[in-house]
Amino acid sequence: MSDPGDLLAQAWQHLARGVADRRAPARHPVLATVSPDGLPEARMVVLRAASESAGTLEIHSDSETPKVAALHARPVAALHVWVPKARLQIRMSAEVEILTGAQVMAQWEKVPCAARVSYGTEPAPGKPIAQAHDYAQPGDPARFAVLHCILSRMDLLQLDTPHRRAVYCRQDLWQGTWVAP
Ligand SMILES: Cc1cc2nc3c(=O)[nH]c(=O)nc-3n(C[C@H](O)[C@H](O)[C@H](O)COP(=O)(O)O)c2cc1C
Repeated sequence: MSDPGDLLAQAWQHLARGVADRRAPARHPVLATVSPDGLPEARMVVLRAASESAGTLEIHSDSETPKVAALHARPVAALHVWVPKARLQIRMSAEVEILTGAQVMAQWEKVPCAARVSYGTEPAPGKPIAQAHDYAQPGDPARFAVLHCILSRMDLLQLDTPHRRAVYCRQDLWQGTWVAP
């Protein structure tokens, strides 16, 4: 493989598969943000949409979660995916828009009833409770947030023999450059 574009195309195939297939490795990226006091925070999420042409990803969350508070303060994130069979690590940097309310009602309508309970937990996620199950999950469309991640950079590492690594930037129109692994 001499064209870094081929590795990028492979990465987008895995991201698309993550959206479509619950068992695909890219189904569950790790999303890292910076807390309001400047500390790194990472957690697993579900990949809900991926657009290669726009260079964007989408994640759904509850607007009252600490990660959304972090993104209000600093609207940047890193995402990480490991695809074992392809031995491919996908690292992404993004600016994140938090979409709620009328902007996301069409998407809320498509969320299956069983999944709607994930948005609107009372008390809000991360708040202390007396017992493990002292919470309710009424499902609240007003708490449904779409995290629209506008990728700025991708860093792909493939552990073939020998290893290869390439970085890609939106500002270079995702042209890509090989870098030492
Ligand atoms: C497999 C898996 C998938 C998850 N998917 C999501 C998700 O799509 N959106 C989300 O907000 N939290 C998701 N979570 C829960 C988060 O990892 C996290 O525990 C929760 O959102 C609170 O994070 P925060 O306190 O950093 O905001 C998922 C957790 C696991 C283990």
